[in-house]
Amino acid sequence: MNYEQALQKLTEAGQEHVLSYYEELTEGQKEMLLAQIEATDFSILSSLENRKEENVKGKITPLAAMQLSEIKTRETEFRTIGMEAIRQGKVGAVLLAGGMGTRLGSDNPKGMYNIGVNKEVYIFQRLIENLMDVVQLTDTWIPLYVMTSDKNHEATVSFLKEHDYFGYKSDYVTFFMQEMAPASDYNGKVYMEEKWKISTSPNGNGGWYSSMHKWGVAQKAMADGVEWLNVFSVDNVLQRIADPCFVGAVIANNCAAGTKVVRKCSPDEKVGVVCLEDGKPSIIEYYELTDELMNAKDENGDPAYYFGVILNYLFRVADLEKIREKNLPLHIVEKKIPYLNEKGEKINPQKPNGYKFEQLVLDMIRELDSCLPYEVVRGKEFAPIKNATGADSVESARALCRENGIEL
Ligand code: UTP
Repeated sequence: MNYEQALQKLTEAGQEHVLSYYEELTEGQKEMLLAQIEATDFSILSSLENRKEENVKGKITPLAAMQLSEIKTRETEFRTIGMEAIRQGKVGAVLLAGGMGTRLGSDNPKGMYNIGVNKEVYIFQRLIENLMDVVQLTDTWIPLYVMTSDKNHEATVSFLKEHDYFGYKSDYVTFFMQEMAPASDYNGKVYMEEKWKISTSPNGNGGWYSSMHKWGVAQKAMADGVEWLNVFSVDNVLQRIADPCFVGAVIANNCAAGTKVVRKCSPDEKVGVVCLEDGKPSIIEYYELTDELMNAKDENGDPAYYFGVILNYLFRVADLEKIREKNLPLHIVEKKIPYLNEKGEKINPQKPNGYKFEQLVLDMIRELDSCLPYEVVRGKEFAPIKNATGADSVESARALCRENGIEL
């Protein structure tokens, strides 16, 4: 793309300021900027204008979760089916590690954070140790796919390599990168990160499968016989990954997907809850939950929307293929976005100053015909690290690890 073409694209999108510093740039920088303008989809910024129409909900009704008592009764059956699928190489694990982890406030990828006290225990290490339990139990290496982003790819790959993948067999670890999206101020004008670079951020965790496909990693997984993918977040240091019982339960119920859920600790806890939307499985975000839904009861008199998702899903690959091209809704999220001010100085804001645009994995559930919400014990499987202190922090996760006998 040449300068005139770039200017035209920007003018149509109302983003001409992107070329403000063009005359000051070196030839190499000019090329980089023009290439970025060509590659950037500015149309997502128009979602700001259509915000009110965003995510209009259908009719919400309860979706029963498979609860602990039922899981306990059928544990042997589920475990046998799940272990068999793992041993046959049908199960892969996908670590979503492309996020920026801004709330934690570390410059490094979140997985590099050391939560140890008396020894080094990195978040990546904890997750790999959890997966290793199943590798040992089934005597089978489970392919581990790691999604990174432009912001943290190099650091993540070299960190895991340096640490010899914390004992995981490197042949079974594959990296792929997610896409980026421009970040804007409150008026929808994209920020500049450098004079030659539009500010971008990872486009959310919802594009994981299409990115996996763009990188050829999904095709390779299918060719290797992988039929199920367990997608999980980087920040829950207690979660069980490729959990045979969960895998078996989803297969036994012939569902296209499964999601691990925990009982909410209060009606207004900030987690998405499972439900049916117009008769299809769906997840409703905590901020979309009206008071009426929050207090609704099911036919047994129990809270109807009380099972919260913990970002641990199992998807049937054949069904992912059917929805790969689907456009998921865009979520507009307020965040702190480093930018260049009018004088061209770099500013690192202390509070949110604009929007990022994200697609979310939870919206994939609505595209599928069936999903099994599968209850797990909160204290044993849910220790998210979102913040540096307080709720869902390094401190709270450390306490939960100790309660579960994990040495730190
Ligand atoms: P979060 O919603 O906690 O987002 O991600 P985040 O960007 O990591 O953290 P904050 O909000 O800036 O503090 C939940 C999971 O989804 C992954 C994260 O790495 C984490 O495992 N994720 C998030 C991606 O892989 N890509 C994204 O674009 C966003």
